[in-house]
Amino acid sequence: MSDSIDLAAFPPDFVWGTATSAYQIEGAVAEGGRAPSIWDTFSHTPGRVDNDDHGDEACDHYHRWPEDIALMRSLGTNAYRMSIAWPRVLPAGDGPVNAAGLDFYDRLVDGLLDAGITPNITLYHWDLPQALQDRGGWTTRETAEHLAAYASVVAGRLGDRVTRWATLNEPLCSGWIGHLEGRMAPGLTDLTAAVHASYHLLLGHGLAAQAIRAAVPGAQVGLVTNHSTVEAASTRPEDIAAATRMDGHTNRWWLDPVYGRGFPADMRELYGVALPERPGDLETMTVPLDWHGLNYYFPVTVADDPAGPVPYAREVRLPDVPRTGMDWQIDADGLETFLLRLTDDYGVRRLYVTENGSAFPDTVGPDGTVDDPERTRYLEQHLGACARAVRKGAPLAGYYAWSLLDNFEWAYGYDKRFGLVHVDYATQARTVKASGRRYADIIRAHRQAHA
Ligand code: IFM
Repeated sequence: MSDSIDLAAFPPDFVWGTATSAYQIEGAVAEGGRAPSIWDTFSHTPGRVDNDDHGDEACDHYHRWPEDIALMRSLGTNAYRMSIAWPRVLPAGDGPVNAAGLDFYDRLVDGLLDAGITPNITLYHWDLPQALQDRGGWTTRETAEHLAAYASVVAGRLGDRVTRWATLNEPLCSGWIGHLEGRMAPGLTDLTAAVHASYHLLLGHGLAAQAIRAAVPGAQVGLVTNHSTVEAASTRPEDIAAATRMDGHTNRWWLDPVYGRGFPADMRELYGVALPERPGDLETMTVPLDWHGLNYYFPVTVADDPAGPVPYAREVRLPDVPRTGMDWQIDADGLETFLLRLTDDYGVRRLYVTENGSAFPDTVGPDGTVDDPERTRYLEQHLGACARAVRKGAPLAGYYAWSLLDNFEWAYGYDKRFGLVHVDYATQARTVKASGRRYADIIRAHRQAHA
């Protein structure tokens, strides 16, 4: 059944997980002492999110987590990537700790461990406390310092049981989409703010990594970044240069400083924004990591666009290529390519695919099942790409499918469904989709192969 995926390529201790994030699933935004985040503000601003959806209830995971852990068990997964809501733990962003917030995650971690599921905790998956945004958010250096203080609090409480930690999820989205494109919280369209935010996010990453290590001896600390392979739409020199710029914007800007190369000179020049640099910052950003998490969804093909927005490269729609419900091009080879780039070009010694998945418009059949062949195929193709990368030397230690549940897909609201498990938002009923059952079969087949 798993013929198309070379499961034997994966090591016996390969991590099979699912992933979610706090604001996308928890709901209960006003319970247990939680204060608003920038996503509460953004989603409650009319017109920012499709259908004016918001995360007030989401998947009600805050109350239904035992059921959700049971679902993870039913899939046979042995790991779960989750994030902590900063405004549950430190409602003002800094200052007093909210004990009820930490207690929630304490119970969740215990529940996961009791079920034989290893938590992989991301500290920041975009839900900055609004109180910090009111003081400048990521455009200020203080937010990076506050992230480290928050990391100490969480790691100090959970670090006796949790060893696998990530500082940030997809700083590109916080930096570029949140501050330059305005399509995500805090909704700014300001290049200077975006470049400064990107700098402080990576500084915060380094400071938080140090804070986790200080609190948890033996912690395995990583960073999660999202990337796309970039192709030029033609062999015209202008399009090739556009592809180099897009690669700088999407990939090198977020990896080079972390892996000791500093911020790419071509992109510094292109942005033309002075970085808020201080001596020692780059060393902090280059803190050695135990692992790198790659979130991969799609490749991009670009053409020169001198009149367009930074980085002056416009996506070109290739004819006849399959796309997901997000209108994202499907190309699993890009995942193989990027895993090998992280391995060969950046020298990463331990990798996880920390997110990969697809949205399609699912329907629940008359018999109550959800048949999702396109998502199933996407999953199989991308696991196949992982196996090929491993055969070529990528030190891939695990795969976390995005997502366990259908959830709040940010500016797209609830219409875009990424889950292996369908959620009926009216009743909160969960139904494992055919893709979820297929994932369970793959995991079982891998275990049997190594039994
Ligand atoms: O839902 C998001 C997630 O929060 C971050 N990575 C991409 C996913 C799909 O868009």
